[in-house]
Amino acid sequence: MVTGMKRVAVLVSGGGTNLQAILDARGSVIRHAEIALVVSNNPAAYALHRAEAAGVAALVLSRKELGSREAFEEALGLKLVEYRIDFLVLAGFMTILSPEFTRRWDHRILNIHPALIPSFCGKGYYGLRVHEAALARGVKLTGATVHFVNEIPDGGEILLQKAVEVLPGDTPEKLQRRVMEQAEWKLLPQAIELVASTRL
Ligand code: GAR
Repeated sequence: MVTGMKRVAVLVSGGGTNLQAILDARGSVIRHAEIALVVSNNPAAYALHRAEAAGVAALVLSRKELGSREAFEEALGLKLVEYRIDFLVLAGFMTILSPEFTRRWDHRILNIHPALIPSFCGKGYYGLRVHEAALARGVKLTGATVHFVNEIPDGGEILLQKAVEVLPGDTPEKLQRRVMEQAEWKLLPQAIELVASTRL
């Protein structure tokens, strides 16, 4: 093992295109972090196949099956210790973590949000809904933000942002795809490398 490598856990809930961008950036953009674990709260998440195909340990912790957020976070905490995780990345993880959990991992949880915070963020703004709201408001620029996670949903310190144009004829799906391609898939690996190489 290369010394100085930070051990990262990626938390997912769905398709996992951001996870794929992270996995593909190993050895190029990401040089000081190792993706040691993928955790999904959804047993049907395609992201789990991406982890398996990349040879990364992956497991499902279902909040529904565990019965409560507390039980979910306790199980997650044990896994993070077991895998000696240094920091977490939320990559399309659709569950809000408790203030107790985020305090324990202060400045050690990154999230990607598909808008330019403070626009179109906070409770209820996730996935396609964010792009629906941007189109409804008629903004000409949107983008993506990587930020540290604290007790306020999408309220933690901003690390990186990238703007993306809204084009005539955009649908939420088209806009989502452009934001992913032009911003999210680039920003998240860059942010991981930044944190792994400088902040810890
Ligand atoms: C991404 O657009 C991500 O930014 C967003 O969900 C999508 C997940 O896609 N996350 C949020 O809205 C969190 N508030 P992916 O599973 O293909 O990476």
